[in-house]
Amino acid sequence: MELLHIKDISVTVEGKQILSNIDLSIGKGKVFVLFGPNGSGKSTLMKSIVGISGYNIISGDIIFEGRSLLNLSIDERAKFGIAMMFQHPPKVRGVKLSQLARMLCNDKKKIEKYIELLNLGYLFDRDLNVDFSGGEMKRAELLQIILMRPKLILLDEPESGVDIENISIMGKVLDEYLKESGASCFVISHTGYIIEYVKATDGCLMLDGNLYCVGNPYKLFETIKEYGYEKCKECDIRHA
Ligand SMILES: Nc1ncnc2c1ncn2[C@@H]1O[C@H](COP(=O)(O)OP(=O)(O)OP(=O)(O)O)[C@@H](O)[C@H]1O
Ligand SMILES: [Mg+2]
Repeated sequence: MELLHIKDISVTVEGKQILSNIDLSIGKGKVFVLFGPNGSGKSTLMKSIVGISGYNIISGDIIFEGRSLLNLSIDERAKFGIAMMFQHPPKVRGVKLSQLARMLCNDKKKIEKYIELLNLGYLFDRDLNVDFSGGEMKRAELLQIILMRPKLILLDEPESGVDIENISIMGKVLDEYLKESGASCFVISHTGYIIEYVKATDGCLMLDGNLYCVGNPYKLFETIKEYGYEKCKECDIRHA
């Protein structure tokens, strides 16, 4: 069953075309990995899905559970069950992680469980992301996402700035949530660490705002490591 269908979209930012005719679909319960070099348009695609302003979809459509998202606000998309972990999450002065957690979830036990699992206790009464370290920000983002209980999780480089032990902690928490909820996940990864912890089902490569090589994410990642992004594009084999 399909959850999200990105239907042939092209996206401009400040008048410049960043994405060209992107078409992909994410099934229910699937983990779809997006690889690609810096500046290729990966974050732009995720921001277009959640509806960040300034990312203009000039053609195509984004369908979530059969409905178009195009005229919906970020909040409305979130209410439908779409949550995103940003590559660079905003700092929120005056709002503590604890306040946000309680707003997102009224199950105290659950909050305590994830605070413990993600080792966030010592950050609980700090202003959100203000002077958090890179890894602390990612763990706090994952906490918020899990408490929202989304149907689709978008993760923009969840490993970036996170040490090996914390990647393992985050990977296990994410894996448990995906298994227990049946949610889907769309994840951008440069290092491939995260797919050692969650079972990835599909992968593709983005280069210069175009998609290539949709197929087995583990084989695709090995091919990229061995031959590089450009070679991978040329061969365009389907990694069945
Ligand atoms: N708001 C913006 N204004 C101008 N250019 C932008 C904006 N957002 C993105 N771009 C440009 O679009 C291109 C794609 O950026 P994007 O952030 O999607 O890349 P990425 O694939 O996520 O790269 P990375 O792996 O480095 O995170 C880049 O050249 C970037 O500078
Ligand atoms: Mg990016």
